[in-house]
Amino acid sequence: MSTPTSKRLSRRIAEFSEGLSDLERFNLNLIMSIGVGGIAPRGDVPEAGVRKDAWDTGISVLSATGRSGVSFVGRAPFMTDDLLSGLQREAVERKSISHRTGPQELSPGGSAAEALSRNPDAISLISDSLGEKVFPTEISTYLYYTSGGDYLYPHVDTDIFSVNLITMLERRVPEGKREEDASALVIYDADANPRRVPLRVGESAVLMASGTVHARETLAPGEKVTILTVGFQYQGLKPSDFGQ
Ligand SMILES: [Fe+2]
Repeated sequence: MSTPTSKRLSRRIAEFSEGLSDLERFNLNLIMSIGVGGIAPRGDVPEAGVRKDAWDTGISVLSATGRSGVSFVGRAPFMTDDLLSGLQREAVERKSISHRTGPQELSPGGSAAEALSRNPDAISLISDSLGEKVFPTEISTYLYYTSGGDYLYPHVDTDIFSVNLITMLERRVPEGKREEDASALVIYDADANPRRVPLRVGESAVLMASGTVHARETLAPGEKVTILTVGFQYQGLKPSDFGQ
């Protein structure tokens, strides 16, 4: 439940935002995104005080920037065993050029990931689930959470990943822990309520990522996660709108 202060602040920032250019609004959202990640990097959401006001304000403002939520979760019909094993192979190959950019490692997608971004069945499923056509940005990233303590702080994605197809490629669950209790993707609604979105290997989520604050919970000791994220954009925006 948002606090009265955060509701007032959110309104003020929304009014301020209306007078900004697209580029200025992009920068405002970037600052807000970095802000929520700084307030609760591991999703340890504040319960009271100034930090709660700031957290609720950030989530509320970012949720108002575009469509939010997940439109699909599960094993997509286009994700055949062959397609999945090709992506898993490429994730292993690309690990050799990954960089630790924070509490996780990243590497750019290769030809298998790029082919998925242009897969007509994938584009249809995403468009149908959203009720709006999308086109591929052809930007994809493998994310490697390699050890206990790795995580991804709450944030929203840039327009290149306005719609983000997130696929679980590999996971190792610590002994004695159930898969659904291991670390999960977490999304926050406009009232800052967290919702866990656990994915099994081969399952995907279609996340409206530029309007949804999302994070990965901290991995437990012995846990390992590899995912692929593939970026799409709403048809209403042309590639030239984001510099491609
Ligand atoms: Fe993201």
